[in-house]
Amino acid sequence: MNVLVTGGAGIIGSNFVRLALAERAAWRIVVVDALTYAGNLENLAGIEAGFPGRYRFVKADVADAPAVEKIFAEEKPSLVVHFAAESHVDRSVLGPMDFVRTNVLGTATLLDAARKAWREKPGRFLQVSTDEVYGALGETGAFAEATPIAPSSPYSASKASADMLALAYHRTFGLDAVITRCCNNYGPYQFPEKLIPFMISRFVDGEKLPVYGNGMNVRDWIHVDDHNRGVLLAIEKGRAGEVYNLGARCERKNIDLVRSLLELLLKARGVAAEKLESRIAFVKDRPGHDWRYAIDPSKAERELGFRPEVPFEEGLAKTVQWYVENEKWWRDVQSGAYRDYVAKVYGGQTSE
Ligand code: NAD
Ligand code: DAU
Repeated sequence: MNVLVTGGAGIIGSNFVRLALAERAAWRIVVVDALTYAGNLENLAGIEAGFPGRYRFVKADVADAPAVEKIFAEEKPSLVVHFAAESHVDRSVLGPMDFVRTNVLGTATLLDAARKAWREKPGRFLQVSTDEVYGALGETGAFAEATPIAPSSPYSASKASADMLALAYHRTFGLDAVITRCCNNYGPYQFPEKLIPFMISRFVDGEKLPVYGNGMNVRDWIHVDDHNRGVLLAIEKGRAGEVYNLGARCERKNIDLVRSLLELLLKARGVAAEKLESRIAFVKDRPGHDWRYAIDPSKAERELGFRPEVPFEEGLAKTVQWYVENEKWWRDVQSGAYRDYVAKVYGGQTSE
């Protein structure tokens, strides 16, 4: 089965490609990724050698219709797993238009290419989405699939628009589209702008850890492998036109998470205990900062048999260990050296 995975050079996509190639022997994966600042080919290192003949990388922009149609014609995928996106909320505050282009136009371009390519023989389109489309919760309650869409940031509004397009293509054209909406991911290969790897890199560099507002905002966390197992289940057991929330029932206040990280880092790096609180700096809040997220994953549990496997404390400790052991990976991102990897390793082999 030919599978097109967009955004495969980001954290979730690259972990998905490893997991899916290992666990789905009949799959051949074509990664389509524009290699924006967030795309890092080092995240996919070793995959070509590890799974010979079952992997191809194509550098392309999902909003580029001729490029996307060419890939559909060459590869004839029967499944699209759409991860590619501008994913960072703070960047969407600084510059919303990249988010509209990639997340809205890019998704529409893929859906339309799929509609045209799958006229004779239908395939499945898995739209990877986010709990942020539901907006913010107060102190109680959780997001269900029927919770009204109420996005706060240009990022979440662009993801909500993409979801609406996927559902519209299902209703209007009968396209077999399934949507997953997941909570905050953590794990290896996460770009060090996201809370956990950002705080780790700042700590190692002896910098203050900037916590937005009063640090009482709540996020709901899931290990990236558990998210990806949920995506696989939605692909194989999900019903067309349905939305499945994915989460591990693991809410943490930001400030508590930062304190846990500090403790783990002190242990992992063998640094003498210091006054932890002095490393934390409360800074100006993010505009439109959603107060609390909490996913109710019961539909995925009931219909897909979804069961997250990684306990948070264990997953977090392993993740901290990974960033400590792979300092070169995030130093290369910080310095920009990861950009050279494209030329050095792939050279002329990367199709444009
Ligand atoms: P990421 O920022 O780590 O990676 C995004 C990838 O998409 C990069 O490789 C980038 O090069 C690629 N990309 C960006 N624009 C592109 C374009 N126009 N054409 C082709 N490729 C492009 O993101 P992530 O955290 O891995 O998120 C993947 C998906 O999962 C996104 O759709 C995101 O909305 C969703 N999601 C993320 C989280 C999370 O906590 N990170 C949670 C729920 C859902
Ligand atoms: O909920 C799913 C979403 O989670 C995904 O759809 C997004 O792609 C992903 O980026 C993530 O969004 P968040 O905004 O929740 O993640 P971020 O890592 O940017 O921030 C997590 C929380 O930590 C948030 O409440 C803001 C806060 N924060 C973040 C940073 C970077 C800080 O307090 N300080 C910081 O320096």
